Amino acid sequence: MRTVDLIQKKRDGGELTAEEISFLIQGYAEGRIPDYQIAAWSMAVFFQGMTARETAELTLAMARSGDQMDLGSIRGVKVDKHSTGGVGDTTTLILAPLVAAAGVPVAKMSGRGLGHTGGTIDKLESITGFQVEQNREDFIDLVNKHGVAVISQSGNITPADKQLYALRDVTATVNSIPLIASSVMSKKIASGADAIVLDVKIGSGAFMKTIEDAIRLAQAMVDIGTEVGRETVAVITGMEQPLGRAIGNALEIREAMDTLRGQGPADLTELCLLLGAHMLVLGQAALTVEEGYEELQRLIENGYALKKFKEFVAAQGGTPSFIDQPGLLPSAGHSFTVTAPASGFVHRLEAEEIGICAMMLGAGRETKQSAIDLGAGIVLLAKIGDVVEAGQPIAELHTSLTDSSVLERIRERLLAAVTIAPEPASAPPLIYAIVTKDGVKRV
Ligand code: URA
Ligand code: CA
Repeated sequence: MRTVDLIQKKRDGGELTAEEISFLIQGYAEGRIPDYQIAAWSMAVFFQGMTARETAELTLAMARSGDQMDLGSIRGVKVDKHSTGGVGDTTTLILAPLVAAAGVPVAKMSGRGLGHTGGTIDKLESITGFQVEQNREDFIDLVNKHGVAVISQSGNITPADKQLYALRDVTATVNSIPLIASSVMSKKIASGADAIVLDVKIGSGAFMKTIEDAIRLAQAMVDIGTEVGRETVAVITGMEQPLGRAIGNALEIREAMDTLRGQGPADLTELCLLLGAHMLVLGQAALTVEEGYEELQRLIENGYALKKFKEFVAAQGGTPSFIDQPGLLPSAGHSFTVTAPASGFVHRLEAEEIGICAMMLGAGRETKQSAIDLGAGIVLLAKIGDVVEAGQPIAELHTSLTDSSVLERIRERLLAAVTIAPEPASAPPLIYAIVTKDGVKRV
């Protein structure tokens, strides 16, 4: 087999066989095929696309390129959840204990973040003593004993995807539906998920800008799941504004606890209940989404969800005293408020820009090496559709930065991401559609 022939075949719209895809991915991961040939092939895929079968083969080839977690010794259906990225997302911190409280085992490997805030792992490190590194045996024991564990992704999950993603990033080939779908699904499959719930975002900060493209991406991922025997459901959700109110690591831990107590922001609560309800159905802990939704509401109301969070934190070595005294969480040096420049209704709270402001305050990493200020970030005091008076605080900024000219620039950037106008505005839709193996249901 020659790489150049496979590039040409794809360039001319042909369909590659499983052996041909394996040859490319294995050859690339082992350093036998150079970047420039895989770059040319990625561009051919970008223009010609891939069939559902090719996309599934690519996914499996990448999943096979590194370690594959065998979660077979954990009882029950292991349901994983993945979000295509949002600002102030917070959902994993809530869903892991919530779904576990309903009896579905959660064995989750998560990442650190490069972006607006840290990833789930960075957020968990806001908790004193919490151990994100666990060996495989301890990980499985934790899940069998407590129903939940969240650990840092091992170094050698889907190395071929890591390599390919980095190459796509610099060759303008990130935005290809089969390449995104196989990249996401390869990681979930290698992590040992039996079933997968996906949160596919649309909006300013997301990969997909329109509902049609988001549905196509969701269908591609659901098709892969069906093809490889891991049932997959995708919920398409809006990212017009940050999810919930908190954007920052310790700030989101606090927001997750509020939500588990039933006192969280409405949008974040609703999304967690819906994603969680689908996880319960796939995990065979509920017969219908409605039944799952009600069960999760009950677990929040009767305190079991928060109790499971406490158990989860303690089991991984965290000191749970912050749960009753959130003041014990890391906090930034100081905080100040940004006020509404005019009276009216909030029309726009641009997610991507607000995320960047949180990062500039210290909540996220600009490069892999940067350190995170776990206490830094933003708490939004108003959301789209709210009525505000001029001079009323609309956001709280938490930071350890002290340079007043830098802080002024961040304040101005935040204000530029907000539009307040006299006409009434309504909150943007949160849920657009649900994609399953049986088809697309628009909400
Ligand atoms: N997220 C991924 O993991 N891979 C992609 O290709 C795009 C988003
Ligand atoms: Ca949030």
